[in-house]
Amino acid sequence: MSRAKTIQDFLRSDIIDIEELLCLALDFSKPSLCANPNHKISEGELAKLDLLIQKRESGEPFAYLSGTKGFYHLDFKVTTDTLIPRPETEILIDIALGLFDSSESIKVLDLGTGSGVIAITLADKCSSWKVSAADQSKAALKVATHNANTTKTNIEFRHGSWFEAVPNQCYDLIISNPPYVQTNDPHLADLQFEPIEALISGADGLEDIRIIIEQAPRQLNSGGYLLLEHGFNQQTEIMRLMRQSFSDVRGFQDNNGIDRAVLGRMK
Ligand SMILES: C[S@@+](CC[C@H](N)C(=O)[O-])C[C@H]1O[C@@H](n2cnc3c(N)ncnc32)[C@H](O)[C@@H]1O
Repeated sequence: MSRAKTIQDFLRSDIIDIEELLCLALDFSKPSLCANPNHKISEGELAKLDLLIQKRESGEPFAYLSGTKGFYHLDFKVTTDTLIPRPETEILIDIALGLFDSSESIKVLDLGTGSGVIAITLADKCSSWKVSAADQSKAALKVATHNANTTKTNIEFRHGSWFEAVPNQCYDLIISNPPYVQTNDPHLADLQFEPIEALISGADGLEDIRIIIEQAPRQLNSGGYLLLEHGFNQQTEIMRLMRQSFSDVRGFQDNNGIDRAVLGRMK
């Protein structure tokens, strides 16, 4: 009869994300995993762990296995209907928090909200800001609504394509992390578990960004801001497009020193 496997047996293996997968299968925290290296893994736990290992090794991101992802100071539910929030996107929060005081009663719109991370993080940090969020994916909006409920943030969610979701509304800040990957980008193979409509945007990756830049001026209050996340090689073109209708156009880099965001102010 073979000996039951212990936590330690798995921790000694080179299985990708094994610590996290053990925590998930056994419902242990990391400290209790370390404190119980000789815990014998039951048949049920082993079946669960094997399945998780199999999925992770087939390339499924850990966030989809755990169903959660941390962003800024909060944890968010994620499903395969939503993009997994990226740490690079946190720079949009830092920039937005620097534009207005948290006590001002400004109107903010998060376009393409996905799991709701941008809208919810801002609403949680600035309870006086009136935050709306829109997406064309109803399934993503369901996840975002769940996240707003669990964080007790008050967000107005709207369904529709870009500004069609919020007709006749004007904002002080429009913020978006839209799809910006080129249709034929070879990196898409690594992103096969994420919703394609959250990623790609035409041959140059700029189709959606062009729509947002063109339509945003009609929905911004005087002196209002448009803040966009973009791909590593898109900043020059986006700044050129923004300068046609916006002043004080500025580019920002993420924490890895990669061009990542553009901000413009209504003329
Ligand atoms: C890159 S994801 C960003 C998700 C989230 N804001 C984040 O930063 O993690 C882009 C989002 O835009 C949404 N989207 C794509 N096309 C859209 C459109 N035409 N109108 C509104 N939302 C759209 C997708 O459903 C997806 O949720």
